[in-house]
Amino acid sequence: MKNKICAGNWKLNKSPKESAEFLSELMEAVSVEDLKSFIVFPPASNWFVFSAQEKIKWGAQNTYCESSGAFTGENSPQTLKEMKGQFSLVGHSERRHIFLESDDLIAKKVKSLQVYGIIPMLCVGETLSEREAGQTENVIKRQLESVLNVIPKGSALYLAYEPVWAIGTGKVASPEQARQAHEFLRNILRDAWGEGPAQAVPILYGGSVKPDNAKELGMQNDIDGFLIGGASLTVDNFTGIFKASQSQQS
Ligand code: PGA
Repeated sequence: MKNKICAGNWKLNKSPKESAEFLSELMEAVSVEDLKSFIVFPPASNWFVFSAQEKIKWGAQNTYCESSGAFTGENSPQTLKEMKGQFSLVGHSERRHIFLESDDLIAKKVKSLQVYGIIPMLCVGETLSEREAGQTENVIKRQLESVLNVIPKGSALYLAYEPVWAIGTGKVASPEQARQAHEFLRNILRDAWGEGPAQAVPILYGGSVKPDNAKELGMQNDIDGFLIGGASLTVDNFTGIFKASQSQQS
């Protein structure tokens, strides 16, 4: 079995100095081989710290759909590429709900990342009221298909299923809820792209992942790893999640 991917979304946390300290601590705590399973998404102000090393994969939390122009405050995918970032989150629930990003804008952002060979990690997920109204599958299908409709089959893509009600709330989805959503997303990929390319897309679960719930979540079908917010801010918790999710494989 493959190692689970552990991706840390730092949101608006950590200074450049704190980022550098975290990176050295992480490199000491984890073997070179296992480090390949980690990805960090630092704030844009700290990209330069990540750019200066090659052991840990990293990416942007957000990039704009244009690479230059009069777009005050935005991040350029071209700059991310030049700085050797390999990934970008797209459509994180905080971007969709606080910054009101539409499916249409998110699809444009994915296309612009492809121009620079950056792998999009597309986040999808339903709100609590959508889940309670029985709309979970409709919502995540719409969010995924609006991107699949504009990119070539078999494009490099990561997906993250993050129920909005589980993000930063301590209320993790049950393993069964997560498994159902992941299988549903995999089926959409299979219908659109066929078996091989659908299996090549890692689908990560996100929303209150901690060392003590990672093992059971990681045992579920179609959960290839985790997108971790709060618990990615300390090396102990971040590596604790990695270790817990590997232990089911022994
Ligand atoms: P959380 O955040 O782990 O703090 O719930 C996850 C995310 O926002 O990606």
